[in-house]
Amino acid sequence: MLGPQSMPTRMAKVTLLRKSPVSAYLKLNKWIWRRLPPSLTTLPPFRSYGNLLQRLVRISTARRQYFGTFFLRNRPQLELIRRLSNQRGLGFTLKIAFLGCSNGAEVYSILRTIRSRRPDLKVIAHAVDISKEILEVAQNGVYSLKAPQLVGEPIFARMNGDELQDMFDVDRARDEVRIKTWLKEGIIWHLEDAASPELLNVVGPQDMVVANNFLCHMTPPTAERCLRNIAHLVTPTGYLFVSGIDLDVRTKVALDLGWRPIQDLMEDIHDGDPSVRGDWPWRYWGLEPFNKRRRDWKLRYASAFQLDVQCEGQISSPQTGSLALERDSKPKKTYPLKISLFGNFGQGNLGNDCTLQAILYNLRQRRPDVELNCICTGPEAIATIHNIAAVPIHDIFVTPGLLSSNPLARFLRKVFIGIPHELYRWLKAFNTLKGTDMFIVPGTQFLSDNLT
Ligand SMILES: C[S@@+](CC[C@H](N)C(=O)[O-])C[C@H]1O[C@@H](n2cnc3c(N)ncnc32)[C@H](O)[C@@H]1O
Repeated sequence: MLGPQSMPTRMAKVTLLRKSPVSAYLKLNKWIWRRLPPSLTTLPPFRSYGNLLQRLVRISTARRQYFGTFFLRNRPQLELIRRLSNQRGLGFTLKIAFLGCSNGAEVYSILRTIRSRRPDLKVIAHAVDISKEILEVAQNGVYSLKAPQLVGEPIFARMNGDELQDMFDVDRARDEVRIKTWLKEGIIWHLEDAASPELLNVVGPQDMVVANNFLCHMTPPTAERCLRNIAHLVTPTGYLFVSGIDLDVRTKVALDLGWRPIQDLMEDIHDGDPSVRGDWPWRYWGLEPFNKRRRDWKLRYASAFQLDVQCEGQISSPQTGSLALERDSKPKKTYPLKISLFGNFGQGNLGNDCTLQAILYNLRQRRPDVELNCICTGPEAIATIHNIAAVPIHDIFVTPGLLSSNPLARFLRKVFIGIPHELYRWLKAFNTLKGTDMFIVPGTQFLSDNLT
């Protein structure tokens, strides 16, 4: 698909009278496309055609790096980072690295998200960029309101007045804003190449690694090498956020290395950066319309991953670079795990309900992609409190007491209610447990006979 000899690649290279017919063809298509209603351009045949145009754009446009960025760029991604940082215990030291940090807008936006919601966490950030001049802007944290230095984008366009006041000290006389101290502290800035083999030694292992919107400007082989290098930074229970990258490259590396895609807010994050999303198919940012008809959509469109929870402790210090590299040679299967819990939950028994809560907390922390359901005695309460699917252990259709005095009524109840109901319960049980990878019965007195 990415091969240099493919048909679109050859077409893109053709020139007539020093002009590229492909470029003229794209211009004409763009002119027509922009005049069509979105209800039409989102239809599957138009999407397929858009994908072809996007391939032409990708191969006919020279790859070059940009500094473009925004404060509060992708709100759903910020929300996911908030949720995941919320899993950490009180006073936890959270290490987070930003690669391709540009002028720091992304760094300060994410730090604001975490620090404002979890002031107890000690957040230590490492911010990396390959450009000295943009890194200086980031480190200074002072931005012109009229013409932000080096960046061609309206970097404040996605903030409201309150957010601006929250993050900056505003100097109206100079028409500039200065990042507040509570956001500026605890950041170590590095002039470094994200593809450098020294990266792990420089930055060290991280609980969260953010690598957005710079890998798409590399050729696919370079982006792949760089992404594999970046992955070495992530601790075994850590998370990688990577968007703005060739989707084929990300999917390939995720599959090879057995990454677990985080499904939470996946579609919102995919569509959460309006400028990037709106540019399709005319500019190449490594994005395509979210397409649930693809068999691999749960992996292809995920931009947050948990890399490896099984090899806990494998990377413990920046010096263990060689150990970390060994992970590449052990591909693992990635699939969303389905776990069913069975027990006497949701009835107000403190011990049982605490057991369930502890299990759910740990499962969600280690496998955020897990699909959970609970077969229990108090399904309504469990579904409400824990936000999981819950079904009753025992459905009662007709109270036997009402009919038990009459033998004929008892017989008819058995034939017309009891037997079909039993079959229905079996079917329901099979349906609930279908595809279950693990079935957990954590005691709760079910192995005694006082409840049955
Ligand atoms: C388009 S900006 C993205 C900024 C920010 N990550 C965001 O998503 O808003 C890309 C940044 O990545 C930096 N960059 C490009 N290649 C890099 C590399 N190999 N290592 C580190 N930074 C790189 C560029 O200098 C630029 O500042």
